[in-house]
Amino acid sequence: MQPSHDHSLKALNTFGFDVKAEHFVRVSSLAELQAALAWAKLEAQPVFVLGGGSNTVFTRDVSGLVVQMNLQALEFASSDRSHATVVAGAGIDWHQLVEQCLSRQRYGLENLALIPGCAGAAPIQNIGAYGRELSEFLVGVETLNRSTGEVLTLPREQCRFGYRDSVFKSPAGRDLIVLGIQLRLATRDQPVWHYASLSQSLQQAGISAPSSHDVFTHVCAIRRSKLPDPAQIGNAGSFFKNPVVSDKQLRSLLQDYPGLPHYPQPDGQCKLAAGWLIEQAGWKGHRRDGVGVHADQALVLVNLGDGNGQQIAILAADIQRDIARKFDIELETEPRLH
Ligand code: EPU
Repeated sequence: MQPSHDHSLKALNTFGFDVKAEHFVRVSSLAELQAALAWAKLEAQPVFVLGGGSNTVFTRDVSGLVVQMNLQALEFASSDRSHATVVAGAGIDWHQLVEQCLSRQRYGLENLALIPGCAGAAPIQNIGAYGRELSEFLVGVETLNRSTGEVLTLPREQCRFGYRDSVFKSPAGRDLIVLGIQLRLATRDQPVWHYASLSQSLQQAGISAPSSHDVFTHVCAIRRSKLPDPAQIGNAGSFFKNPVVSDKQLRSLLQDYPGLPHYPQPDGQCKLAAGWLIEQAGWKGHRRDGVGVHADQALVLVNLGDGNGQQIAILAADIQRDIARKFDIELETEPRLH
């Protein structure tokens, strides 16, 4: 295993920040990953595992070894009459996986179309959009424990999925490197399209009984109209999680802001739209230095071209402070800052 040195990560993070990895290697198999970890151990180098770079904000050069996961195996296995299993390597581009599943009549992922990043990052974040979440389809996550070397498939019940959350973000899952995901998808078209902007879009097109293909097409169109394409404008999707507040806090907020979008949760709490709060506070379209808040979706912070991760971190902290002062709400960042 021969890593490269001072390797630019500019093309490997969706913000497009121009930072360097002290040592870098791309791995395409479990054996290559094991060799990379062995090299890092021998050289006493810390390891940073990178997927599609859509959930990482690099604020500085990365010391140690950056390992980019490029495991590309894809297996369509059949199971029972109504569902089939799909096993995807961590390095497979997420959107391409969604397209492949749909073209083979494996349904469910269409609501998650165009989410940037790789299959391996999907369970870490428990990606979700337009009314569906990965955890609905996921049956297992294949992992390598970097401390013990053990290869283990974690069943869904042990993944502790929550809203943009999983065991892989907690100290208990810190040592687990995702090798691949096992999904259980429907073999019959059962589209889910209750999400407000999705059903509106379908309605406007005169579609009253959409197929999964219609859902796919409309999700892509909505995302393209609101969310900046990382290939054009650097970004990491939603920069903050939507906050969840108590019923008491919601009632008090609604007195001051009757138009506040809110979504009741099964546990009696309520999810708010962080994008709405940030827009109300006057940040939408804000630009400074080389970074800014996207003009069409206030939840998305962008690299205007020559920005860097530190500027994004400062902008994010300023927004968090302002939202705490105005609404008494702590916004939590979604991507990890490194
Ligand atoms: N809104 C505003 N101003 C804005 C943005 C949003 O008022 O600038 C309002 C909208 O009008 C709407 C509400 O906020 O009433 C929700 O907006 P939207 O449907 O655009 O969704 P979101 O809550 O901003 C979440 C996810 C997205 C996902 C969409 C669609 C999080 C943190 N974000 O955004 O996920 O695509 O719903 O399901 O949960 C991501 O995680 O990177 C991501 C893009």
